[in-house]
Amino acid sequence: MEKELVILGLESSCDETACAITKGGKLLANAISSQISVHQKYGGVMPEIASRLHLENIACVLEDALKEAKITVDEVDAIAVTRGPGLIGALHVGIQAAKTLSLIYNKPLIPVHHLAGHIYANEFVSPLKFPLLAVVVSGGNTELVYMKEHLNFEIIGETKDDAIGESFDKVARVLGLPYPGGVAIDKLAKVGEHTYKLPNPLHDGSLNFSYSGLKTAVINLKHNLEQKGEEIVIENMAKSFQDVAVGMVLDRVKRATELYPVKQVVLAGGVSANSYLRSEITKLFEGSEIEVIIPPIWCTTDNAAMICKVGEYLYKQNVFADLSISVDPSWRIEDFKKF
Ligand code: KG4
Repeated sequence: MEKELVILGLESSCDETACAITKGGKLLANAISSQISVHQKYGGVMPEIASRLHLENIACVLEDALKEAKITVDEVDAIAVTRGPGLIGALHVGIQAAKTLSLIYNKPLIPVHHLAGHIYANEFVSPLKFPLLAVVVSGGNTELVYMKEHLNFEIIGETKDDAIGESFDKVARVLGLPYPGGVAIDKLAKVGEHTYKLPNPLHDGSLNFSYSGLKTAVINLKHNLEQKGEEIVIENMAKSFQDVAVGMVLDRVKRATELYPVKQVVLAGGVSANSYLRSEITKLFEGSEIEVIIPPIWCTTDNAAMICKVGEYLYKQNVFADLSISVDPSWRIEDFKKF
């Protein structure tokens, strides 16, 4: 029988410090320390504060995970760590911790692409079936990724400017809603109506996205109404914005599945927690042969369990790094073996 690999994963790319341990792909521990309450005061993630908090918390989540899994680092087969994309200072904390563990305990080091992690988080729900279309929608990225097989990533569409999550956060800030804006807009949109006309850009036949114009349109509309002495109806603006922002995803996904022979569509990243996106994408493929995988909410936020998942596949392909590696804040998923 094949040995069940034990992978220890570390994640620190944004505002969650996390350590997880898997054995044979099954989750033994999943420790997460979230910084959201600290960043909320500033209306968004403050990179310098994020790095400092990762530094304070990384040893704690490591200790918690080892305790929960009831193992020692000696029993681990490899250390997997997020190398990018993300905030440079934040990523450094995870990478240095992983390198230290790798050096002291003489364990192989596996650099993992954060978005590959979000895609593979779905394996905690259901095995991935290829070819598939991964819809990566997060605070820093918006990409359609076509996968012919395991660890084969081809970006077939991506944002030309802002990420979808970034636009949710910025629009929320303009409307006076708390960070993370996506959660607040999602909640308000449920009681709002689509009354505001907003632009839906980029009709070039490609599978690319553009969110910057949509965000600016909301800002301008708010200022214009204020100048006229009119109040903006926040829930209606939330609904109008969300319809257009999510509508762009649904349109690209629909067209991508007409162009590529996919068996599965999987959602990935923080914005995949959006209730409207989750219900509409399910409806889009009702009665079709394409299976839709919606990750549970715990998989949509940053965690290290997903880093272990990718780490195990990379281990089986002998993808290891030496101690000279560094982070890459804008690492492309197609280059996941280049470091
Ligand atoms: O995956 P993530 O942590 O970002 C990156 O790693 O880049 O996702 C965070 C993003 C934020 O922009 C947040 O506003 C958004 O996910 N988000 C949502 C929802 N929950 C979180 N956006 C829309 N609807 C939600 N329910």
